[in-house]
Amino acid sequence: MISMLRKPATWFLMGIVLIVLTVGLPKQLAAAPVPVYIAQGTVQSEIGKGLSANPAQLPPLPYAYDALEKAIDAETMKIHHDRHHKAYVDNLNNALKKYPQLQGRTIEAMLRDLNNVPSDIRNTVRNNGGGHLNHTMFWEIMSPTGGGQPTGNIAQEINKTFGSFDDFKKQFNAAGGQRFGSGWVWLVRNKQGQLQIATTANQDSPIMEGLYPILGNDVWEHAYYLRYQNRRADYLNSWWDVVNWNEVNRRAQVKTQA
Ligand SMILES: [Fe+2]
Repeated sequence: MISMLRKPATWFLMGIVLIVLTVGLPKQLAAAPVPVYIAQGTVQSEIGKGLSANPAQLPPLPYAYDALEKAIDAETMKIHHDRHHKAYVDNLNNALKKYPQLQGRTIEAMLRDLNNVPSDIRNTVRNNGGGHLNHTMFWEIMSPTGGGQPTGNIAQEINKTFGSFDDFKKQFNAAGGQRFGSGWVWLVRNKQGQLQIATTANQDSPIMEGLYPILGNDVWEHAYYLRYQNRRADYLNSWWDVVNWNEVNRRAQVKTQA
């Protein structure tokens, strides 16, 4: 053994092994699969990102105010984004000011665990954190080039679960129409990994129930009142003309586990 260590070739080979280990190991770690969900009945992470509460920030609209005119008018979009969504963000940040220890958490984490949010700001976090999360998703699942038939895997999954896209739309629109007052209608992935239609009141998020929102429509009057007045059913019908199926497919990849 000692004689081997005296040979330059042995040291050369050991050097090569050392280089392979130090260079190769980080690559192996980087290639490790990143979990997109956690078990025990609740979805515990967004795909790719959690929405920060440190502080919360109003995301810019990913298109012009008038880009969705075929379903939603520019003035409604402007008020909805610049005033309503901004108010949720501002209210959330104000509430969290006195609890800096909460500011490092994601909105999703706080909404899943509201009992651990101090009671004096719990409802504010529920309403405004939920409003921020819901609207951030809402802008992203719409697009000026959206609409038409679903594409990708979600198209097959909708057919398998609801019979057809038309049947799914009917059930979704009916649920949205029946949601009394302000709220949302959702397509979610449930704890068993299946698609399901759900509604929530006010700004509650499906993740509070361990359901993951794949797409959702805002049925608060502020989302449609300027063009559709009280005709929520007409709004629900037209809204499909701007649904961004690419983003819906991305969100649909989430895996849940009961
Ligand atoms: Fe809204």
